Amino acid sequence: MQKNIVLIGFMGAGKSLVAKALAKRLKRKVVSTDVLIEKRERKTIAKIFAEQGEPYFRGVEKKVISEIAPENNRIIDCGGGVVLDQENILNLKKNGILFYLKADPEVIWERIKSQQTRPLLKTDNPKVKIEELLEKREPFYRQADYIIDANDQSIEPVCREIISLIAKERIASR
Ligand code: S3P
Repeated sequence: MQKNIVLIGFMGAGKSLVAKALAKRLKRKVVSTDVLIEKRERKTIAKIFAEQGEPYFRGVEKKVISEIAPENNRIIDCGGGVVLDQENILNLKKNGILFYLKADPEVIWERIKSQQTRPLLKTDNPKVKIEELLEKREPFYRQADYIIDANDQSIEPVCREIISLIAKERIASR
């Protein structure tokens, strides 16, 4: 039985792409909190935010996390705001190793400026919103076990670093 690999970090940091690539290489299953929420609610995240509001979304997110955190061998792709609730972090840490995929605000902006799926960035100045949210959230993301530089265009170095870190963790826990 192996601990879950838990990916946290801001929108656009590359969590979903990295999760899929790791799953393929490590032959593990990916679970995405956003995908599970959309399935459960039968609506897109944007629609949940618009119709029920952010607190409702966070409630469903928390429930989903409490259900998937005790599983084993998973790669858990977390929505960017999962860390705002300390209980989510504690739950995920019980059976998982947390990796913070850290990207700079300019890099994030370049990656997501053409996408319309993030309700929190539907503001007059999404670029400034990214900077503000990132500054506010940084201390939460820093509770991860490891911080991984995710500024590179390629997800390859990120995957390699995570694989090498979990190999070291396994040796250390023997
Ligand atoms: C959010 C990030 C999104 C999604 C929702 C809220 C956030 O997930 O959960 O729009 O608060 O940062 P991604 O990080 O996968 O974009």
